[in-house]
Amino acid sequence: MFKGVLFDLDGVLTDTAEYHYRAWKQLGEEIGISIDRTFNEELKGVSREDSLKLLLAHGGRTADFTSEQFAALAQRKNDYYVEMIQNVGPTDVYPGILSLLKQLKKEEINISLASASKNGPFLLEKMALMTYFDGIADPAKVAKGKPDPEIFQLAASEVGLTAPECMGIEDAKAGIQAIMASGAVPIGVGRKEDLGKDIPLVASTEELTLELLTSVWRSEKK
Ligand code: BG6
Ligand code: MG
Repeated sequence: MFKGVLFDLDGVLTDTAEYHYRAWKQLGEEIGISIDRTFNEELKGVSREDSLKLLLAHGGRTADFTSEQFAALAQRKNDYYVEMIQNVGPTDVYPGILSLLKQLKKEEINISLASASKNGPFLLEKMALMTYFDGIADPAKVAKGKPDPEIFQLAASEVGLTAPECMGIEDAKAGIQAIMASGAVPIGVGRKEDLGKDIPLVASTEELTLELLTSVWRSEKK
């Protein structure tokens, strides 16, 4: 049986992936780069700086900004995002998540956060979920972001485990790759068109029950 569950945040615990998209879209429009939801799939799970690099490359504008201007653009995107998440609260937690966290706690399965977002702890507090988390991987301590496995390895070690002892839950392509590279057992939240058809997927977080996680774990470990 798995000993821990490593959760992504944006797009798994709540709908903040949408706010990241809107904030990047707004910044993009201000510098003449237009993005759509298909391109946004490439940004999901990716750190703020790496996302900005992808956005500038998408618009063919990589060489147009000094490192100071680059930092200012990343800051501006975060300012838009932080403004958007001020009113996030417990009612914004995705369906099924709270009952899954309670079930995991009851079974003494460790719960750890593996989000690339530096706004993760703020959002856990806002949603009143902090109390359920036994560990939080600090993305500032990670040299390589998703799809590298590092953040999932750190999230596991924060609760005294190794990634292969855990399951990982993700809504992003880069995140699924990171989970697989870490040796944890992945479950994707989303569509096979976005996440691939070779891993277990749920269309909604409502389907994420302890029973489902257990059956995925058993079938992966056969
Ligand atoms: C991830 C999001 O969780 O965090 C990305 O999926 C985001 O879209 C990344 O870029 C970094 O977040 P933040 O809040 O530190 O800019
Ligand atoms: Mg996500």
